[in-house]
Amino acid sequence: MQRERTGVVPGRCRSTAIALADLEAGFPPDPEDPQFALPSLICLENTQSRCGGVVLSLDYLRQVRQFATEHNISLHLDGARLFNASVAMGVPAVEIARYADSVQFCLSKGLGAPVGSVVAGTTGFIRGVRRVRKMLGGGMRQAGVLAAAGLVALEEHPRLAEDHANARRLAEGLAGIEGISVDLAAVVTNIVFFRVTDERWTWQTFVAAAAERGLAIAELGHGRLRAVTHSGVTSADVDRAVEIVNEILRRQAALLRR
Ligand SMILES: Cc1ncc(COP(=O)(O)O)c(C=O)c1O
Repeated sequence: MQRERTGVVPGRCRSTAIALADLEAGFPPDPEDPQFALPSLICLENTQSRCGGVVLSLDYLRQVRQFATEHNISLHLDGARLFNASVAMGVPAVEIARYADSVQFCLSKGLGAPVGSVVAGTTGFIRGVRRVRKMLGGGMRQAGVLAAAGLVALEEHPRLAEDHANARRLAEGLAGIEGISVDLAAVVTNIVFFRVTDERWTWQTFVAAAAERGLAIAELGHGRLRAVTHSGVTSADVDRAVEIVNEILRRQAALLRR
């Protein structure tokens, strides 16, 4: 087995990993007491998109697996970005997925297919998934063309390392700009969260100024800005993005000096 290169321990981002004590607290003191609802599923997300694409360590996954088994409860892995976690940790995706009873991952996002997600689990579970998919109107005929794109996405996923390197390049570039704050330690995959600390800007005016210059940045609540690297973004694009942010903040400073 390959060596795990990196991992995030519970606690870095407040919601990165649910503490086992909190999981335990979700269970009623007396499971026979009908006044309490009984938990029926633990769902973990890896990588954690709202925490900037950080990964959950294998050790943590192992502990939650053990907890789930002891409590006779299923463990689902929301692996929308599972392959980013795999590349960042330096372990095959199966080493991350093996702790869960069921797994979902996206073929789009970093893997670059135009559309599509895969759910994996036991035969009985997948039978149920097919039924729910149909009930929700998600059935699709002649999906082979899209499946072919999905195969390309899976076969070429090693290029995710390039996205991760680009995200780091972007984070480091942004960290060097006065008026921007970035938690470099949290940038381990393809997501960069940052804030504009220059008080002359609100996140709204900053995002609008960036959009005017062709740089798309999303706000994900409380003024946290998110930039994501993917197969359509080169290292030259990243350098241009850093330049644009620099230009915006410098221009404002120049206007104020007049
Ligand atoms: C963390 C996470 N989980 C699940 C999903 C759902 O993906 P899909 O709609 O392709 O099933 C997404 C999609 O944005 C996601 O970001």
